[in-house]
Parts: sequence; structure tokens; C-alpha cells
Amino acid sequence: MNEMVRNFVRQQSWLDTLGAPLQKALTDFYHGRENESGPQKELQNFLNGVWLGHPLHAILTDVPVGAWTATMVLDTIASLSGNDDLESAADLTLATGLAAAVPTIASGLTDWMDTYGEEMTTGLMHGLTMTTSTLLYVGSLFARLAGGRAVGVALSNLGYAAMAAGAYLGGNEVYLHGYPINHAAFQHPPSSFTPVMPESDLPERTLTKGQAGNLSVLLVREGDQVYALDDTCVHAGCSLSGGTLEDYVVRCPCHGSEYDIRTGSVVNGPATMPEPSYEARIENGMIEIKG
Ligand code: FES
Repeated sequence: MNEMVRNFVRQQSWLDTLGAPLQKALTDFYHGRENESGPQKELQNFLNGVWLGHPLHAILTDVPVGAWTATMVLDTIASLSGNDDLESAADLTLATGLAAAVPTIASGLTDWMDTYGEEMTTGLMHGLTMTTSTLLYVGSLFARLAGGRAVGVALSNLGYAAMAAGAYLGGNEVYLHGYPINHAAFQHPPSSFTPVMPESDLPERTLTKGQAGNLSVLLVREGDQVYALDDTCVHAGCSLSGGTLEDYVVRCPCHGSEYDIRTGSVVNGPATMPEPSYEARIENGMIEIKG
């Protein structure tokens, strides 16, 4: 079934046509004035979930999904029992889901802005399906408020079906395409100090890529002090050594996530999880690291 869904999304060439200008509009909004510390950047960091150390969208989605599941259950029991209180409770959970849908959509759009290829098209299809679901719930609420309960319930049930389809696509975005999982999650740093390169090969304050066995590491030297991070950006797997260094902040060349070279902590998103940081030393003329 999953292959069928994937092929269906692949065949929708209009997703590329729609996605490109939408991503450009979002990028212009967040980065349009190269503003890396202004309110737009703060908003992007907040919606990505930098403050949480975890994608915010993944948590927010639970609220409308849970609330609208409750709506369906309460509507069903209310129609069987004729209990007015249960009808009111169903309406309340529907409105709760709608209130939560606003920040959920905003955080999803902000994450989606940095996707490409099949991640982009699947994410866009997910977003459009969830937006359709939200609009059906809006229609349902209006119908209920106008006294058309049967129409309202029918619309919310359609909304629930759309939400289930959107959730399936959201699952594909994470579990099939790997966005936005931690791309350094499966690295295995050496447990004892392992040589990376001769000390003489490591220039001062320059992003330098090295190998400790199978592990690619990013090194920065400041006198006798050496800092080492994993070279694979946790956000989407780009090599941090191709980025830039300013003070103690390394900036990823792909989507601009920034990490403190001394600790790996996130300074700016879209990454939300810290970059793995390794212990480094100079021993007998060699740079060595361990996890
Ligand atoms: S890969 Fe996206 S910010 Fe590094």
C-alpha cells in the first residue's frame, strides 16, 4: 500500500509547481533581509522547536488529532443516546482542535520550508490534506452553530477521513523520507582516543574535516585547544565542514542551522537537536578524538 501512495504522490507534478513559489515566499519571509537574529528568526526558531530540543510540529499535531478523535466518538455516542450535553462536548472538542490547528499548520510550514525532492512533495501533499481536513472542520463548526447538526457531523467525519490520510503522509515524511530525524543518530564515535590527523595538518580557526575510523568529524583549532563536532549535520545530513565559522558558531551550508563549536548546542534552527560533540586533544603531534 505504501508504494501505491508513494507512486501517487510522485505522479502529482503540480506539487513541484506549487511547492517552489510557496517555499520561496516562506524563505523570503524568514530570511528575506538576511536577518539572522531578528524577530523572523526568533519566530522560525520557536516554530521549528529549537527551544524545545525537538520538532514542535510533532507535538502540536497530537492536539487536533486527539481533539477531533474525541469529536467523532462524542458525536457517535450523542446520536445514539440523544444526549445534548455530549453534543455540546463534541462541539467543544471540535473548536479545541481548530484552535490548535493554527500553530500546528504554522510549525509544519516552517519545517517544510527546508525540504526538497520527495520530502518536499510528500510534505506538501501532507500539508494540503491536513488543510483540507481543517477547512472541513471549519465548515462543520459553522453548520453546527447554524443548527445544521447532521450536516456538521457529516462534514467533521469527512474531515476525520482527510486527517487520517494526511497523518499517513506525515508518517511517510518522517519514517520513509527521514525528515526531520536526527541524521547523526546512528554514528558510533570511538570510546577511546583515536587519531584523526597530524597536528600540523590542522590550520588555526578553519573548519576542517577529518576521519576517526569510519566517523567524519569537524575540527576547529584555537592554539592548543581543539574542538570536535560530528561532521554530519543533524538536520538533514549535510557536511558541516562546507559551512562557515564566525566566532564560535559554525553555520551549515545547506539550511543555515548554527551550532556552538565548543558544545554542539543549537544557536539557530532549523535543526532542533544538538550536534554530537566529541572530546579532542593533541597527543604526540596527532589530533585525537573520542566520543
Ligand atoms: S542539513 Fe539542514 S541545516 Fe544542515
